[in-house]
Amino acid sequence: MPSTPFIIVAIDGGAASGKSSSSRTLSERFNLLHVDTGSFYRAITAEMLRQRVNSHDLAAVKSALAGIKLATRVNGRSAAMEIGGHVAGDEIRSRAVNDHVSHFAAIPEVRTALLAYQRGLAGVAREKNFRGLVMEGRDIGSVIFPDADFRFFLHADPAERARRRASEGGQDSIAERDRLDSSRKTSPLACPLGAVSIDTTHVTLAQVVEKMAVPLAARLGTP
Ligand code: CDP
Ligand code: CDP
Repeated sequence: MPSTPFIIVAIDGGAASGKSSSSRTLSERFNLLHVDTGSFYRAITAEMLRQRVNSHDLAAVKSALAGIKLATRVNGRSAAMEIGGHVAGDEIRSRAVNDHVSHFAAIPEVRTALLAYQRGLAGVAREKNFRGLVMEGRDIGSVIFPDADFRFFLHADPAERARRRASEGGQDSIAERDRLDSSRKTSPLACPLGAVSIDTTHVTLAQVVEKMAVPLAARLGTP
């Protein structure tokens, strides 16, 4: 009997384009390990702020990174990053983290510190007998897994994305984060060549998920 393939699904896009909602649904439907890499950058940022490290002070950033020990905790179908044995909580969605995360994420040393860690999660998914990995972020299909089996890029009108984020409550200047994320030199937010681009502005989440699920089901079989 042929063994079931192990698949890697990369989902990238700007803030509130629908990455988390769609990747969580795909993870449930196809039994894939779900990885929200934005939460990693947020957790590193929260730790930097806790240590009072300024993103402009590269020496301090490097020294803090050298002291950070990363590990993984799998909860259900979700992989959470531990820093020093601790998984960050709601503080990673705070106003302070929203305001600083794109500045820390633009630092090449910060991205390098997370590169091997993120790639290593494919091994965690295999060990735990998932049928694959669905990883969402900004550079998954371009840098982390450029050879992923499926690469999607979600986008939506800025006004619609701002409306979505505002309706969730909290304060988040997503236009400014998108500007910083798209203009940085290292791993900028952009639709990678060959990725399937989906405009989510006027479609429901269910329709977005269906579009992604069709090719996955063709590879894995209908769950
Ligand atoms: O949920 P939302 O799309 O608003 O943001 P997020 O996915 O939690 O990501 C927070 C920030 O982390 C982004 O604005 C980027 O600055 C950074 N990030 C990144 O640089 N690369 C990734 N692969 C994921 C997130
Ligand atoms: O992860 P990301 O920041 O890209 O977006 P999300 O957290 O999945 O989606 C942000 C909000 O937009 C959620 O409340 C979704 O339910 C909503 N959404 C929507 O209304 N229609 C879509 N086509 C996609 C997302």
